Amino acid sequence: MTPLPAAPPWLAQRLEQAGGAVPFATYMEWALHDPEHGAYGSGRLQVGPRGDFATSPSLGPDFAALLAPQLVQWLQELAEQHPGQPLALVETGPGEGDLALQLAEALAENWPALAARTSLVLVEPNPGMAARQRQRLAVCPLPCRWVGLAELAAAPVQGVVLAHEVLDALAVERIVWDGAHWRQQLLELHQGLLRLVPGEPLGPQAEAPLTALGLLPANPQRPPGWTTELHPGLQPWLQAAAAGLSAGRMLVIDYAHEAWRYYAPQRANGTLMAYRGQQASDDPLQDPGHWDLTAHLCIESLVAAGDATGWSLVGQRRQGEALLALGLAQRLHGLQHQSVGQLADLLSRREALLRLVDPMALGDFRWLAFSRGPAGAMPLFLQDPSLV
Ligand SMILES: C[S@@+](CC[C@H](N)C(=O)[O-])C[C@H]1O[C@@H](n2cnc3c(N)ncnc32)[C@H](O)[C@@H]1O
Repeated sequence: MTPLPAAPPWLAQRLEQAGGAVPFATYMEWALHDPEHGAYGSGRLQVGPRGDFATSPSLGPDFAALLAPQLVQWLQELAEQHPGQPLALVETGPGEGDLALQLAEALAENWPALAARTSLVLVEPNPGMAARQRQRLAVCPLPCRWVGLAELAAAPVQGVVLAHEVLDALAVERIVWDGAHWRQQLLELHQGLLRLVPGEPLGPQAEAPLTALGLLPANPQRPPGWTTELHPGLQPWLQAAAAGLSAGRMLVIDYAHEAWRYYAPQRANGTLMAYRGQQASDDPLQDPGHWDLTAHLCIESLVAAGDATGWSLVGQRRQGEALLALGLAQRLHGLQHQSVGQLADLLSRREALLRLVDPMALGDFRWLAFSRGPAGAMPLFLQDPSLV
């Protein structure tokens, strides 16, 4: 058995103040978002191939170049529906700010009339991350501002909300099957050490949604100790995002599984992972506040939370197919005609494009489009690649 990790003093103090144990979601919230000790809150985590973990936009400018026409399609529809009114591109969880900057540059260069009506709105609750985004976006060609979702709700905008790898950073609850009941998992302080323990049984009200996810009735293939995640943070987040947008679309791009795959009996420890320095681990308790903690989304839970908060699902697709529909193959082909003088650059762009569609990695990400108000034309990313 692996030895229990020691609690860092700040976490031991928090756990003592909370009576010795807290739900896993509370721990995850602290470890990620505490302004002093959290991995994002402190600004300690760095996104990118030379940071703690790479994301699609951090691999280079091609991801933004492929995504831009999709966002433009939606912004142009809104521009026609609301003549003369301002539009917003709202990026939630902008990380290092690379995607926001690249999209703003693409808009200003290729769609200047639309860019003239569009401002960039960045939603970043973690002060450490927001500070780096401000530096990165100092040269942004569009007006940009940082607001909280609550602030946005006070003066809602028309536009497009982009949530790229942000919902996987919302704190999840973990639940454990004990052979007869589902129990909420707790983080407990035990003689200065950290351990995960099952808490009280969930009770009928909390258990009710588990039927739709396939977790009830009990399945004999799930032995006692079988553990997974629930996503209580999704609905409040979507509610807040809906309040900030008077009309428009939202594109969620993230790790996600259908419920049958997420909660399959053979997935005995959920999807929770920790990342740091390009290393992955399934231990969420090591060095709290220094690792990214992330859990996949459950597609049915996300869509149900959307339905409950005024977001209608327009459609969804795997990233590999979405990017092919947006012209990735043509972009790859186009690299062959560029000067060999830039060979190193060409090779790294070629590698990045292939990584974006690799079905065993980033290509398996999901793109889910939601609408507030009329759904409009079929999104480009859902169309047949041969038509684009
Ligand atoms: C995994 S990083 C993704 C960064 C960037 N979107 C990318 O893909 O490269 C998660 C980002 O979401 C931010 N974040 C975490 N919780 C958030 C929330 N509730 N609302 C908005 N942003 C959040 C983090 O601080 C960080 O900037």
